Amino acid sequence: MEVIKVINFKEMVSKSLHDLIGDALEVKDVRRLIETPKHSSHGDVAFPCFILAKQLKKSPAKIAAELADRLSHPMIEKAEAAGPYLNIFFSKPNASKQIITSLVADGENYGNSNLGENKKVVIDFSSPNIAKPFSMGHLRSTVIGHALANIAEKIGYQPVRINHLGDWGTQFGKLITAYTKWGDEEKVRNSPIEELLKLYVQFHEEVKEEPALDDEARLWFKKLEQGDKQANLLWKWFREVSIEEFERIYQLLNIHFDFYHGEAFYNDKMDAVVKKLEDNGLLETSDGAEVVHLSDEQLPPCLIKKSDGATLYATRDLAAAFYRHNSYQFEKALYIVGQEQSVHFKQLKAVLKKLKADWADNMTHIPFGLYMKDGKKMSTRKGRVILLEDVLNEATSLAKENIEKKNPQLQNKEAIAKSVGIGAILFHDLKNDRMNHIEFSLNEMLTFEGETGPYLQYTHARACSLLRKTAAKPSMETGLNDVYSWEIVKLLHQYPHKVTAAFTQLSPSVIAKYLIDLAQAFNKYYGQIRILNHDAELPSRLALVKATTIVLADGMKVLGMDAPTEM
Ligand code: ARG
Repeated sequence: MEVIKVINFKEMVSKSLHDLIGDALEVKDVRRLIETPKHSSHGDVAFPCFILAKQLKKSPAKIAAELADRLSHPMIEKAEAAGPYLNIFFSKPNASKQIITSLVADGENYGNSNLGENKKVVIDFSSPNIAKPFSMGHLRSTVIGHALANIAEKIGYQPVRINHLGDWGTQFGKLITAYTKWGDEEKVRNSPIEELLKLYVQFHEEVKEEPALDDEARLWFKKLEQGDKQANLLWKWFREVSIEEFERIYQLLNIHFDFYHGEAFYNDKMDAVVKKLEDNGLLETSDGAEVVHLSDEQLPPCLIKKSDGATLYATRDLAAAFYRHNSYQFEKALYIVGQEQSVHFKQLKAVLKKLKADWADNMTHIPFGLYMKDGKKMSTRKGRVILLEDVLNEATSLAKENIEKKNPQLQNKEAIAKSVGIGAILFHDLKNDRMNHIEFSLNEMLTFEGETGPYLQYTHARACSLLRKTAAKPSMETGLNDVYSWEIVKLLHQYPHKVTAAFTQLSPSVIAKYLIDLAQAFNKYYGQIRILNHDAELPSRLALVKATTIVLADGMKVLGMDAPTEM
């Protein structure tokens, strides 16, 4: 089958207009002037004639009228002058034919590009802390990071997915102290994170009465840093059992990482960083600790070493930045981490810049808002503990109830309920602008109406079922001429731009919101037009339905959601 290249409409119009107006404006200036009117009654695109009028010393209205008379192209149905504006209407049958045929031929590759030229984008996301619950913040990081990796990949970048586990730091001294005093191996085996968290909390309780525990903890951490066998065995064990628990969540979400390079990975890479700082005269002693002063950047000092010589979170992030720069020569490095760490990432970049690492400008902290419940921050500590796995499982069982009501005959209910439950949570997160706080309401996320994941999935399944119901084959034979299909065609045409925009803005919500618009346009079409009616346009309508399923499914896949074909 011959593949027809997707036409770029603004390009086409600007060329055609340029042919008419000659040297008065360059093609690219014409293109820049072209607008998309708010109301489709003003055309699919419009060209304001003011600037051209100045050049030609004529009235804008006169120019608009002249151009309206002369503009002609197979893709253009008509051009009308409306005062100083030239309103241009595309030929719906011709344009829909072209757009949909080439989209269906591209299939799931539609919207792919080579913009990224195979350059690497390092994405540091999820990054939970060992022996601590996977928090709602980590969930946001996981979901956003995963979607950004998919988006980057779709436009030709090579994502490097890194889980920067919090697996090092003085807290492990505390944990080892607590475990050796009060721990129970059996209990830790059975529910590692819960037990380890209990021990950690107990440590903080007891240390109030017995401050010497702190010294013991410091000692244990020192031993750990120096390679003490017992300390390392315990640490390794805590790490392993925690990762096993995290992986259950990643499996539910169908997410993978290229590297589990946690903080500990950089242990043997920190001396080099400290030396670099020293060599550049940046390290200063302050209250016994070693810091890099950043007051010239209006930032608090960056702590490099504590008074007892222990390294810190920032030291490890510095080492990680150098390692990533050397190993991947990244085009961009993204850190998907809550906004409460903004200062940390500013410090990180500022220190790197003092070290003349100009590539630090390619590092971006991507913050996000909080999950809220009943107006309060949803937290995994204290009373409001919500274990993520429970949340995901509850979403699945609620989804199952909904499916049970809507379609009790459905095969494969379990698997589909899981896709819907998890998809609902992912979508609820991703449709919001990143910085917004998100109200966590499972019931709201799981309705099949409104701007939800299940609504998208349901729309997709409905479109798939239309294709199953007829023996006729999708094919844009006649093209389509009604306004409802035209809305869908225009949206489908935008998908590649939306994917690119989502990456430029580092915001998957661009795609999420777009998918809602597409689903709404499709459902309107479904309500207004008898899609399966036997007439000459049937194959064309089916091709439109097919194209819609392709983009809905691909968009959901990019966001990390499944797109069941039946629901
Ligand atoms: N483990 C940290 C936390 O839970 C997040 C780490 C983010 N990544 C980084 N390179 N600092 O707060």
